[in-house]
Amino acid sequence: MSFNRRNFIRSASILATLSIAEMETLNAKEQIKTSGKVIAQDDEAYWQNVRLLFPLTKDWTYLNNGTFGPSPYPVIEATRAGMMDADQAGNYGSYDATPGKIAQFVGANADEIALTHNVTDGINIACWGVPLKKGDEVILTTHEHVGNAYPWMNRQKLHGIVIKKYTPAATAAETLNRIAELINKKTRVIATPHIPCTAGQILPVKEICQLAKDKGLFSLIDGAHGPGMLPLNLHDIGCDTYATCSHKWMLGPKGTGFLYVRKEFQDTLQTFGMGGGSESGKWDLMTDPVTPGNYAQSAHRYFGGTQANGLYTGVNAAIDFIETIGIANIHNRIKYLGKYTQDKLLEFGDKVELITPTEERSRCAVNGFRIKNIEFTKFYDICVENKIRIRSVQENGLNSLRVSTHIYNNKEEIDKLIDLIKKV
Ligand SMILES: Cc1ncc(COP(=O)(O)O)c(C=O)c1O
Repeated sequence: MSFNRRNFIRSASILATLSIAEMETLNAKEQIKTSGKVIAQDDEAYWQNVRLLFPLTKDWTYLNNGTFGPSPYPVIEATRAGMMDADQAGNYGSYDATPGKIAQFVGANADEIALTHNVTDGINIACWGVPLKKGDEVILTTHEHVGNAYPWMNRQKLHGIVIKKYTPAATAAETLNRIAELINKKTRVIATPHIPCTAGQILPVKEICQLAKDKGLFSLIDGAHGPGMLPLNLHDIGCDTYATCSHKWMLGPKGTGFLYVRKEFQDTLQTFGMGGGSESGKWDLMTDPVTPGNYAQSAHRYFGGTQANGLYTGVNAAIDFIETIGIANIHNRIKYLGKYTQDKLLEFGDKVELITPTEERSRCAVNGFRIKNIEFTKFYDICVENKIRIRSVQENGLNSLRVSTHIYNNKEEIDKLIDLIKKV
């Protein structure tokens, strides 16, 4: 009885020291729990509570989740606690739980997940690991991010592989046709983005992987924008590898990522970056040369050494945060905001060119556009002057703009951008 009273007094005195904003945040943490229930995509009161959990300043309008996703307080707090664990008690800790948690989130098994620092890291592991010889062909898009272009261009320079490119089409069916037309006897790899960084259209990766399988090709996906935006099942997609990060749509700590390598593909994908943890546990420098039997019997063979345990505590918390809301609820909300953006851009008629497909299966939370008669860089600068963050797309001469919105955004913020377009 007295113990409860003491607890009550302690909680009451803590509450008394909180600011109104902190009280709102505490309350919002409770309000966003869905326990599996469906949340309407336009339930603004619910999504406003979600917004309260992000430290994003009100001075800026952040419409650039495609570059990185700001973390909510629960992720920041967990990351701090994870780091304090090591730094206070001198306890290295463990990241052992993270691959399993990620695997469950993306429809894979724990032994198929390698921890990385970012998407680029994972793409390099996959790109370098594929056995290729001079003259072998790799299919890319004309919409690659540097992270899925440079690794292949480097192999082109060092190993004489050949890069073939196609431009993603307005429909998934036509995109597939364009890929199929590039395949010949020398083709070995289709290395495709799931969602290009340029216009954000969702490419038909399941069909692309099936096509690769039918033709005996490797399917390596740049999945920078997949997890956290789409409900994912990598086994169902059927890719050989899927490189991604936790710092975009998963809203996790920056500099965290992972690479999925299909279990049966692990003895084909050569490993180059070995170290502590990537061996099977029986290495011996004096007697035992590295043989395939020495590799960890999991995707752990692709990474080794000390890991950022504090950050991975944050990744675990990011998955918990997403699951508190529900990935289906998140997907529906951001697809709704993406459609709202598309509709508003289309209202400008021929004054604005929407470059993202409107096809239902190909669109979600990212939209690319150009404004007639205004240089994309000029409009980008105007946005910065007006404290709106979007992205300019200079990749491969596309010279366009990109707006990408997540669960912390609302229609009023998109309207701010639309009003600015009207003004110019
Ligand atoms: C499609 C795509 N691929 C790769 C990357 C590289 O990601 P990271 O910076 O995490 O390596 C990005 C980053 O924006 C991207 O959008």
